[in-house]
Amino acid sequence: MGILIKGALAVLPDGAAHATGRHDIYVDGTDIVGIDEAPQGFVCSQTIDASNRLAIPGLINAHTHTYMSMMRNVADDLSFADWLFGTIEPIEDRLEPEDAYWASLLSQIEMIKSGTTCFNDMQMHIGQTTRAVRESGMRAVICRGLVGGEYDLDERRIREALEERDAFANCDRLTFRLGPHAPYSCGPDYLRGVAEVAKREGMGIHIHIAESQTETDNMWADHHCTPVEYVRDAGIFDVPTIAAHCIRVSESDRAILAEHGVSVVTNPASNMKLGNGFAPVPELVEAGVNVCLGTDGAASNNAQNMFREMSLLALIHKGTHDVPQCVSADETLAMATRNAARALDLPTGSIEVGKKADLVLLDLDAPSLTPLNNAVAALSYSANGSEVTDVIIDGKVVLQDRTLLTIDEERVRHEIARICTRLGLA
Ligand code: NI
Repeated sequence: MGILIKGALAVLPDGAAHATGRHDIYVDGTDIVGIDEAPQGFVCSQTIDASNRLAIPGLINAHTHTYMSMMRNVADDLSFADWLFGTIEPIEDRLEPEDAYWASLLSQIEMIKSGTTCFNDMQMHIGQTTRAVRESGMRAVICRGLVGGEYDLDERRIREALEERDAFANCDRLTFRLGPHAPYSCGPDYLRGVAEVAKREGMGIHIHIAESQTETDNMWADHHCTPVEYVRDAGIFDVPTIAAHCIRVSESDRAILAEHGVSVVTNPASNMKLGNGFAPVPELVEAGVNVCLGTDGAASNNAQNMFREMSLLALIHKGTHDVPQCVSADETLAMATRNAARALDLPTGSIEVGKKADLVLLDLDAPSLTPLNNAVAALSYSANGSEVTDVIIDGKVVLQDRTLLTIDEERVRHEIARICTRLGLA
């Protein structure tokens, strides 16, 4: 039983860029099965009149921590050390497993309603997050956060990650990676052990690298290498790796990332908010690195809205380089969609026959999209997420006329309030 999205103004891939035009999009099962032409035997069970809608591929949030949404607006205007060690970690220590379920649902509500269909999540509560994803209908890459100096200490966590992956082997919305937290929280032997498990199990890695100047300075003082070299020397780059931040990366670091096919996730709001600076995105692209975009967790962003992130990404490099051609609207949209699909090895990220049907419709009557003139520019510079009316993920409608069909929003708000009270945050 199929869905016909009729007469949408759709943003389709056009070589390395995007092209906008009026199209009918046919969805059957989980896939996009036709554009402008129904495939043979297509049975339409639902027609969406999209004559007043802009259709785009679902945005992919390539780095976040969805369990952190109850920590929104509780640790602001602090140094990175005071933020992480002084405020966030003490709250994390008091979390109960089910808190992560409700917080992940809250993050997912915000993401779906602002046009994100897939996220790459690093956290310690994978069972709770997979439960939330199963219910929300989102696509997710779930990465078990791993921290430690000694490899032997952590077999339980790795075992949990593998068990969770095996339990969801038949759910194609969920894939699993290992998430060694960062060079400063994982010793070299530990990282080597994680890389070996990843290699043996055919899993990718999701890690934070070179997030702050302090991290880079300490790495030089302790190990006489850069964070990128430290992670490479531990064998992590021998498996497919997606690295968050990469702010303090030298020219030689960028060459290493490119040589090993490491994808970098830039997180402009979080990086700026923590006073960590900016990833050298134009220079990474120039070196041949696949760059994608993420929000990071709500404790440091404080939003899970990829439109805001796209706007920041497209603007900050023009501002810091004094070059208005830097990080174009077209590149920005690619970083929020198909570059991330490539980084996460997912058959999504563009509106093409054969890709998964992860689609977002925006209201062309919204003041922020009027007049539209150039859809790709509108997505990077003027949209804010409030224009999103409908979201389809894996061929299922999860947001219809701005109403979430999969999550009880009121219940989630109630549970989050209860959690915040217990944690003394409210
Ligand atoms: Ni992070």
